[in-house]
Amino acid sequence: MQQHDIHEEKILVLDFGSQYTQLIARRVREQKVYCEIHPFNLELEKIRQFAPRGIILSGGPSSTYGSLAPHVDAGVFSLNIPILGICYGMQEIAEQLGGEVGYSEQREFGMASLNSLSDDPLWAGLNFPERVWMSHGDKVLKLPDGFAAIGATENAAIAAFASPGKKVWGLQFHPEVVHTEHGYKVLKNFVDTICGCGGLWTMHSFIETTIANIRAQVGSGKVILGLSGGVDSSVAALLLHKALGSQLTCIFVNNGVLRHDEAEQVQEMYGRHFQMNLRYVDASRSFLDLLAGVTDPEKKRKIIGNEFIRVFEDEAHKIEDVDFLAQGTLYPDVIESVSFKGPSAVIKSHHNVGGLPEHMKLELVEPLRELFKDEVREVGRELGLPSEVVDRQPFPGPGLAIRVLGEVTENRLKILRQADAVLLEEIRAAGLYNEIWQSFAVLIPVKTVGVMGDERTYEKVIALRAVNSRDGMTADWVRLPYDLLGRIANRIINEVRGVNRVVYDISSKPPGTIEWE
Ligand code: XMP
Repeated sequence: MQQHDIHEEKILVLDFGSQYTQLIARRVREQKVYCEIHPFNLELEKIRQFAPRGIILSGGPSSTYGSLAPHVDAGVFSLNIPILGICYGMQEIAEQLGGEVGYSEQREFGMASLNSLSDDPLWAGLNFPERVWMSHGDKVLKLPDGFAAIGATENAAIAAFASPGKKVWGLQFHPEVVHTEHGYKVLKNFVDTICGCGGLWTMHSFIETTIANIRAQVGSGKVILGLSGGVDSSVAALLLHKALGSQLTCIFVNNGVLRHDEAEQVQEMYGRHFQMNLRYVDASRSFLDLLAGVTDPEKKRKIIGNEFIRVFEDEAHKIEDVDFLAQGTLYPDVIESVSFKGPSAVIKSHHNVGGLPEHMKLELVEPLRELFKDEVREVGRELGLPSEVVDRQPFPGPGLAIRVLGEVTENRLKILRQADAVLLEEIRAAGLYNEIWQSFAVLIPVKTVGVMGDERTYEKVIALRAVNSRDGMTADWVRLPYDLLGRIANRIINEVRGVNRVVYDISSKPPGTIEWE
């Protein structure tokens, strides 16, 4: 059977800075077509080399007629590759090909009703009027030569245009957002029918290709990987294990601030079940010694980050002739683009406590660097990782150290671990674990008065936190059922020695953060 190259069919997204650019790429990949995001000013030669079957120009916050407006190399319009412009992307096409873009008196934000003005391959399978999501101040006022309007809304006579002869289309609305009900059909029509991509990008073929690539890169070399038990490092480990077997060694560091039973579970799953070379390093003592007396959250993070590097390197040196360091880096971490250099990038950087690669002078193996998180989960499922791992909620690198507010001591960790285990057990039993972005307990460093039996108590407070989020950047608290909250509180107060009060955190992010420290 002939093996197809999963990268044979590619779509290129040129980014003009829209907050939705990543979504465009994800929607294309949902059509099983490989897709990459690059900055709007990617050189023509690089575009040619990339050899996409289609190009999508994203939206963006600028005006095409401004003196600092971002512009794509005009040569893309002569490559004979189908082009789809979305929002700013459409206006850019109009601007470059001789149409006219201007400030719109009637700005459109939110839902609009789109009518079709002609039969167009983009519209196949739609039922007009279609509900579409608009977000623009400018609009196309005059069509470039050879173009026809193919869609209109009340406020935009040219809400979509096309020049099938030139293979260029433009949409003023955003087909990539879920509010545009049948937007995925429009993108599918572009990718499938217009660009002729049949759909080679499946996670099954990704696994086959990646295993072959890993073997080609590593040869008979040795690879080490820091396994945290989280989704990314777990899937990377399994993929590498499949490709390399015993050439891979995973190092799992117990930093003393893990959750209840976590260290045991990781050893059980990867060491015993998957039979990986797993080195378990119990460094909890050294971490806790360094954390003694420290209350500043950023200091805690630094201590844990640095100590992790030290312990990891120490362990790695015990393995002879290591040539490669594997990491579970994902595509959103490597996208080089305008929209991802904003404040969000800065916020995230303080969370990256790793810092291993610069230190270790080993060649990197990053088998997941082309994948979005959802795709990583799918790969994990294909590889036989159970739902407990694949659907795991995110857990911060500094672990419980930033959930024991104030000083981290063994006794406080013990209390938090027990409370957290109760919370998670009840959330799972209620069937809510996979519906929630993160749910956890926090130990508050105050004591409160209570009564138990005939006695007055003066003990600790546990806060419960459950939030929903798309990407961790914004979040809302989960409306957990009262009965469930009651059961969790009751069990914690009864079962966890040292706690006499439980509260529920109902702050959203912003202005709160997900973690308390
Ligand atoms: P915040 O608390 O900033 O958290 O709203 C956003 C997301 O990041 C996680 N988080 C961390 N992850 N190291 C990590 O690896 C950290 O120091 C860290 N601090 C917060 C948090 O759990 C949430 O998912």
